[in-house]
Amino acid sequence: MRVLIVGSGGREHAIAAKLVRSPMVSELLCAPGNGGTAAIARNVAVNAEDVAAVVALAKAEKIDFVFVGPEAPLVLGLVDALAEAGILAFGPRREAARMEGSKVWSKRFMHAHGIPTAASETFSDADAAEKFVRASGKPWVVKADGLAAGKGVIVAADVAETLDAIDRLMRKREFGAAGADVVLEERLFGQEVSYHVVLDGERFVPLAAAQDHKRLQDGDVGPNTGGMGAYSPPPVVTAAVERKILERVVEPTVRGFREDGVDFRGTLFVGLMIDGGEPRVLEYNVRFGDPETEVLMARYGGDVLPLFLGSARGDLRGVTPRWETPAALCVVLAAPGYPGTVKKGLPIHGLDAAARVPGVQVLHAGTRRDGEHVTTSGGRVLCVTASGASIDAVAASAYEAVDQIQFEGMQLRRDIGHHARSHATHKA
Ligand code: AMP
Ligand code: GLY
Repeated sequence: MRVLIVGSGGREHAIAAKLVRSPMVSELLCAPGNGGTAAIARNVAVNAEDVAAVVALAKAEKIDFVFVGPEAPLVLGLVDALAEAGILAFGPRREAARMEGSKVWSKRFMHAHGIPTAASETFSDADAAEKFVRASGKPWVVKADGLAAGKGVIVAADVAETLDAIDRLMRKREFGAAGADVVLEERLFGQEVSYHVVLDGERFVPLAAAQDHKRLQDGDVGPNTGGMGAYSPPPVVTAAVERKILERVVEPTVRGFREDGVDFRGTLFVGLMIDGGEPRVLEYNVRFGDPETEVLMARYGGDVLPLFLGSARGDLRGVTPRWETPAALCVVLAAPGYPGTVKKGLPIHGLDAAARVPGVQVLHAGTRRDGEHVTTSGGRVLCVTASGASIDAVAASAYEAVDQIQFEGMQLRRDIGHHARSHATHKA
């Protein structure tokens, strides 16, 4: 089977590293891929968000199956366009991708189907939103309706910051049309958890729980990022909590899809806040998380292709993930300036030494390969992933490998997994 992976992050390298070992895969291509996928697959310089170009590539290369990594092409209708060309693809169609593509739509869905989430109000008029905030006398989480490359959510600390966020999104249009409508949401507290389920339009298969670390710096402070590291399993998701996630969130969501006539195939990644053992939904994503995928793939036993194929074909019967490796943890190495404007083209040293640490896989995100030389080409540069017997053990190997790697201005957190580690630099 000829397989094409769309995307260029650590998530796509993790998926490629699994699929390249599948006995069903005869050739693996990535569009556009990165310096890591270049070593195990054939990178083709096609932009993931250029739907027509991806379809043309898939046709020209006689691709049998496409795995779509990021949300933007899904929201743009890449899976619909591939289906029209007769090419099977993993991921939701445009209509179902609205679960991530529109916060207004997904909040309406949650409220309509009784799914626990923060109280919220939607506004399409900046004056009305400001009036509401002033009258409430308290800060709100301000969310742009549309996709904003993970930057459209502002967790305001006070009323002034809330008003400023409304101004930036709705009047200054910092994220363009994405800020035409905003959701104002009550702030939730607790521990964030990433819960992924794969759907086939009818059934769902839950994956292992994971925890990301959104803030840039140790101790969960600093600006929000796309994720500075992740691990699985997180102890906050006890068996009782997982049961609640399934019964109160996942099952009603899948029932809601059925009632609303939404044929959801692909990954539904539910971002949850767990407080006192009670899960509430922060957001839905319609694709795998990054860096959550890195740890999920590190733990997944055997071939993952049947899971993706079953979802795309509408028949996940008989697919049961085996979490063969008990624990996995990954540490993101980010470029100087991240999550703002970053410096690119910096040489990276020590990759081979890092990869020699037992149980460690150095996954690439924003990198470029030129022969033997690898340089930085994005914000999140590498994702050093370790798998093993316990969170303490995998944290030790991940950081041992991290310490072999150098590039100018490298940023990282030293406390990934702190909720689960016995000797982290920070304990929350
Ligand atoms: P979202 O894209 O909606 O998940 O928001 C991005 C990040 O903002 C989340 O991962 C949380 O860290 C934070 N966040 C979003 N909504 C809330 C909320 N209601 N309360 C507290 N933090 C939130
Ligand atoms: N790691 C969070 C995300 O992929 O949205």
